[in-house]
Amino acid sequence: MAPRKLAAGNWKMNGTLAALAEIDRLLADHPQPGCDVLLCPPATLVHAAAARAGHIAIGGQDCHAQASGAHTGDIAAAQLVDAGASHVIIGHSERRSDHGETDIQIAAKAVAAHQAGLVAVICVGETEAQRDAGQTLDVISAQLAGSMPEGATAANTVIAYEPVWAIGTGRTPTSDQIAEVHALMRQRLSDRFADGGDVALLYGGSVKPGNAAEIFAIPHVNGALVGGASLKAQDFGPIIAALSAA
Ligand code: 13P
Repeated sequence: MAPRKLAAGNWKMNGTLAALAEIDRLLADHPQPGCDVLLCPPATLVHAAAARAGHIAIGGQDCHAQASGAHTGDIAAAQLVDAGASHVIIGHSERRSDHGETDIQIAAKAVAAHQAGLVAVICVGETEAQRDAGQTLDVISAQLAGSMPEGATAANTVIAYEPVWAIGTGRTPTSDQIAEVHALMRQRLSDRFADGGDVALLYGGSVKPGNAAEIFAIPHVNGALVGGASLKAQDFGPIIAALSAA
């Protein structure tokens, strides 16, 4: 089994009900894409999005490690499932920086996601200072080792490599830099998990219609986690098309 191709959109803290019209447009423009498509809208929109998403999977952007309890403002994995989600982003760098999430907490959230039946999209990525200091491969190795729980499989886990300095900046690594990290991730996953060769590996960070095809041609890049360019069907659609053709 080869890794499945996945075009994933992360709407972050953007969008109200009116934004769901973008899903209708994606469905109309791409009735049968040649890849899996996932959108992760804000939690307020998950239920309504799932009700009209057709073949597009819907995911949350975070979940709590506990199944329920006194955690004001948090969302349990089973609640995302109840709302119609099939996936959840875990350990995005904005969660790591805004909320101080650690690899240990992220692994616990991934376990909770798996127990609820969600696919966990676990994010890793170096800061610019870490890249400048030549620490990128060590940082990614440590984040992978710490953030992925023992029960991770190709069926319940996707990994997204998102260099922090490339997110929302319009800057992207060179193809060689992406290739180097993705080859390392594939090796680490294959070393640790029986089906590590089949886990989908996404690149994220300033993916646009104009650079998607080049990024999808890089070995071990099985798709993208897209922020800003996932908000509009006219931008996300060409990225879906580029991945379908890759
Ligand atoms: P941008 O595509 O806006 O750079 O965001 C990437 C990202 O953080 C997706 O999770």
